[in-house]
Amino acid sequence: MNVIQRISPYRHIIESQQFDKNYLDKILKLTDEIKNKKIDVSSTLKGSVGALLFYEASTRTRLSFESAILRLGGSFIHTENARDFSSSIKGETLSDSIRVISDYADYIILRHFDDDSSKVAVKHSNIPVINAGSGKEQHPTQTLIDIYTIFQSFGRLTNLNIMLIGDLAHGRTCTSLIYLLAKFPNNKFCFVSPDNCRARPNMTMHLKNNNVLFAEHSSLEQAMAEFDGDVLYVTRVQKERFSSPSEYLKAKSQIIFKYQHLSKLKEQAIIMHPLPRVDEIDHDIDTDPRVRYFEQTKNGLYVRMALLKMMYDSMKK
Ligand code: CP
Repeated sequence: MNVIQRISPYRHIIESQQFDKNYLDKILKLTDEIKNKKIDVSSTLKGSVGALLFYEASTRTRLSFESAILRLGGSFIHTENARDFSSSIKGETLSDSIRVISDYADYIILRHFDDDSSKVAVKHSNIPVINAGSGKEQHPTQTLIDIYTIFQSFGRLTNLNIMLIGDLAHGRTCTSLIYLLAKFPNNKFCFVSPDNCRARPNMTMHLKNNNVLFAEHSSLEQAMAEFDGDVLYVTRVQKERFSSPSEYLKAKSQIIFKYQHLSKLKEQAIIMHPLPRVDEIDHDIDTDPRVRYFEQTKNGLYVRMALLKMMYDSMKK
């Protein structure tokens, strides 16, 4: 039995809803300590091997996880572009791949195009699985980064007005963020999206069932006039998830956060984006003090170090 499995057999990170306040309090504090070099974590993962399986492209998630593992003293194996360069191309199922890789590593970090991929992986893995992005559904470690960045700015995760702009039908970072922030009292949402990228019915139903207030708009100007946003979370239209090029073209470049929108935004508000960006946010706002997207990418390293440390520490109990 490998070192991580022995101590924490069920420590999977699958969806943002699984995080409770206690877990978030701990990870926010630990991320601060790691970021500010208050603790030495350089041997935390010594002797362990992580397996990174990325069936979809990534810059931030893959490289920040790899850097986090190395900075924690661990090592990793990986298959970049697993869709083409693993035995997936020969027809091997994800479940078979996971069974095999479970014997080569101590934990798996998985990005996959299927919505239920990480749940499938958990079923066939005897080591922890971390979801690094599953189809259009979930990106829970991005949400931890977003939550950390929001908490840095406001010192709270409650009583926030959150405006999500872009592709809410296919954007997994938005879905994960909404599910988690909806668990905190008095958060209100405003969704701004092209008509064919509106939040999916299961999401709006979830919010209604939990008495979480939200509004929907297709005009950014109108939304900004009506909603006093604390957090503006912009996302790209997810080209790779549309059923046809014409559907994508209907949504592309429809909603763009521009320099002139800055004057409508209050001084304490923050502008976030999980990146990568295409054309949905003007580059000339990058120097505005309210912009947080490069802070988010930087925080990604420390949040993922904290997550891996917590996973490892929980195994020792
Ligand atoms: N935010 C995010 O998941 O970026 P990558 O696709 O580059 O990993």
